[in-house]
Amino acid sequence: MAGTDTSEATTTDGETTDVLVVGSGIAGCAAALSAAREGSDVLLLTKASKPDDASTDWAQGGISTTRGNPESLKEDILEASDGTADPDAVDTLVENADDAVEDVLVDTLEIDFDETEDGEFDYTREAAHSERRILHVDAATGTHILRPFLNYVDDHERIEVRQDTAALALITAEGRVHGVVSDEAPEGHPIYAGATILATGGIGALYGRSTNPDDATGDGIAMAALAGADVEDLEYVQFHPTAYAGSEAGRISKRSDEDPEQDETFLLSEALRGEGAVLRNGDGERFMGDYHPDAELAPRDVVARAVETEREETGEVVLDVSTLEGEFEAAFPNVAEKCRDRGIEGDEIPVAPCEHFLCGGIAVDDRGRTSLDRLYAVGECARTGVHGANRLASTSLLEGLVWGLRAGSDATGFEPAVVEAPELRDSDPELPERFAAEKFTRLQRTMDEYLGLERDPDEIARASAVFRRLKGEVDAYTRTRTARALYELRNASVVALLIARAASENTESTGCHYVPEANPAGTAGQ
Ligand code: SIN
Repeated sequence: MAGTDTSEATTTDGETTDVLVVGSGIAGCAAALSAAREGSDVLLLTKASKPDDASTDWAQGGISTTRGNPESLKEDILEASDGTADPDAVDTLVENADDAVEDVLVDTLEIDFDETEDGEFDYTREAAHSERRILHVDAATGTHILRPFLNYVDDHERIEVRQDTAALALITAEGRVHGVVSDEAPEGHPIYAGATILATGGIGALYGRSTNPDDATGDGIAMAALAGADVEDLEYVQFHPTAYAGSEAGRISKRSDEDPEQDETFLLSEALRGEGAVLRNGDGERFMGDYHPDAELAPRDVVARAVETEREETGEVVLDVSTLEGEFEAAFPNVAEKCRDRGIEGDEIPVAPCEHFLCGGIAVDDRGRTSLDRLYAVGECARTGVHGANRLASTSLLEGLVWGLRAGSDATGFEPAVVEAPELRDSDPELPERFAAEKFTRLQRTMDEYLGLERDPDEIARASAVFRRLKGEVDAYTRTRTARALYELRNASVVALLIARAASENTESTGCHYVPEANPAGTAGQ
C-alpha cells in the first residue's frame, strides 16, 4: 500500500529516548515497565487524556490465569479458535501467564481481585472456558487494573508518560524504525528511539457500534502497514454477542456526525452467562441449545451469529439475569448501574452483537518483534497468533500483559539514531468543519453494512471501492494538513481497506469470518 507523501522536507530537530511506547493500555504499560526494569529510559506517548480512552479500562470480565493447568487453557484457546490459533504462540501465553499475573498485578500493583469468604481468589468462568480460572474485580476488571498501572508507570523514575499526544507517522530508514513523528508541533515533532513499541489498541471506531472507546482508530496498524510491516488475519473482527441493544440512535458512535444519544450501547460481560444468565428470543424461548451443545457458553462467534439470527427471526433477544437469583446487583454492580441509567427495568436486558476485538493485526513473533527492525507491536494492534480466527474470553488483557513484558525487555539496549524524519506539512487552512466526522460516518456505515457478522464477496468488493475513494480524498488533505482527526481518519481508512482486502482473499468461513455463500447450508461454526 502506498504511504502518505511525507518525504519532501526534512528536519533533524526533535528528542531521543531509549524505548518509545505508543499507547497506554495494559500492553503499553507492561512494555514500559519491563523496559524500565531493564534500565532503559522510556517515553510512553498516548493520545489518551484520561484512562477510559484506552480499551483496557473498558474490559469487564477479567484476566484469565491457567490456575496451574496451562494445558487446559491451551486446549480451550485452540478449541474456541476453531483450531486456527498458533499452538506455539499459545504455549508462550500459557507458560508465562501465571508468573506475569503474579509479578505485575498481584505483587507490584497489588490489585484487589475479588476473593471468596475464605480469602481465596474468586475465579469466575466465561464462555468456552472449561473451568473457573478468571481473576476479576466485580465486572470492572480493566478499570481496576489500568488506573493503578498508569499511576505506577507515571511515578517510575525511568518512564515519562506524555498524554494527549498522537503519533502521526513512523520514522524509518533502510528497513529500520527509528521512532515516530508526533503531533506536538504543526509540522510534526520527531521522537527518535532505540526501539519503538506500538500498543495502540483496536479498531472499534471503524464501526458505528463497538465496545471500544472512540479513540480506537487502528493507528498503530495503519502506521506500521504504511511503513511496510506485515499484517495478518485482519478479516477476523470479533463481535461480542451481548452488548446492550439500545435504540437506533444508540447505534451511532460519538465520532460520527450524527448526534449520539444517552441510549449508547455497553457491554454485558460474558461472565454473566458464565454465572448462569441465559439468552431468550422474542418468543421468550431459550435457543442456544439449538445452535451448540454448550448453549450460552459456546464460542463467542457462534453465540453472536445465533443472537443475530434470532433477532431477525423473532424481533429481539434478551439476556435474562433472573437465573442469577438476586446476585446480579451484588456481583455486577457496574453493569446493573448502566442498566438503571438506561431505564432498563426487570431482569431482561435487550442485547445485540457489537464489534469488540480485532484478532489479527501487525504480525509479530513471540517477543512482539514485527517484520521491521526495531519495531515491536503488542496488545490488540498485534497479531501474535494466540487468537486465530476467534478469541477466547479474558485472554486479551493476559496477552497484552505477557507480550508487553516480553517486548519491553527485548527492546532494550539499542542506541537511538537521528535520521531524516518526515516533516509533515501544515500549510493549508484548518480542516473544513465536519469533514472528518462526515467521512467517518460513511466509513462506519460501510463497515457495518458490508464487513459485519456475515460477509458476501460482492459486498466486500463494494466496500473496498468506497474505502479506496475515501483514502484518496483523505490523502489529498494530509499532504497539507496535520490535524489529528484527519490522521485518525487516514488510519481508519487504511485499516478498513486492509480488512476488506483480507476478507476478500479468504473465501472460507472460519471463526469470526463468516461467508454464508462459502457454506450454503449455513452450518459454519455450529
Ligand atoms: C466480557 O467481559 O464479556 C469480555 C471479556 C473479553 O472480551 O475477553
